[in-house]
Amino acid sequence: MQRDIERILIPHAQIATRVQELAKMITADHGVTEITIIPILTGAMIFCADLIRHLPMRMQIVLLTVSSYPGRSIRSQGSNILSDQVGDLRGKHVLLVDDIIDSGGTLRLVRDMLSEAGAASLKTCVLLRKPTNGAKQTPVDYLGFEIPDSFVVGYGLDYNDLYRNLPDIVTLKPHVLAGKTHV
Ligand code: IMP
Ligand code: MG
Repeated sequence: MQRDIERILIPHAQIATRVQELAKMITADHGVTEITIIPILTGAMIFCADLIRHLPMRMQIVLLTVSSYPGRSIRSQGSNILSDQVGDLRGKHVLLVDDIIDSGGTLRLVRDMLSEAGAASLKTCVLLRKPTNGAKQTPVDYLGFEIPDSFVVGYGLDYNDLYRNLPDIVTLKPHVLAGKTHV
């Protein structure tokens, strides 16, 4: 995997510091209110796992799987909800957690779906944002980092379902993105 990396964009230590800062902001805004955390899988899995261990309030965790970059795609193919266990959210304070906003399509789709489920409040926490028009039109309550418009992997983000376990956020060498993976 290491030899497929082009450049480390955000090293793990910097991610860890930012995750703690985000958790402090979320805690300050929510106080002791019980919250429902909804990570958008699979990409938000690692970010969410780190984030929630810095949150002191009572919480439920509800999983939601959305696919928008199937297989070797490096551009969104349109977002699809693959599975959810969301159910009734009436009276719940929901925090939606995602890895990255590119076109913003995923977050808009999920937000619309969740607002129909009757949550008392709905906030969004996203680790990375690319400088696209769609992303700019999709407001986020808690944002980790702005990154350039390049395809990144690691810390939960994948290419062709690989590289999620890299601790840093990195770019891949062009030949890897052309489909010739060495793993
Ligand atoms: P959007 O719907 O275009 O905003 O894309 C959001 C989803 O696409 C994210 O939740 C990621 O799963 C995936 N995605 C977007 N950009 C990247 C990337 O650079 N690397 C890996 N996955 C990405
Ligand atoms: Mg995702």
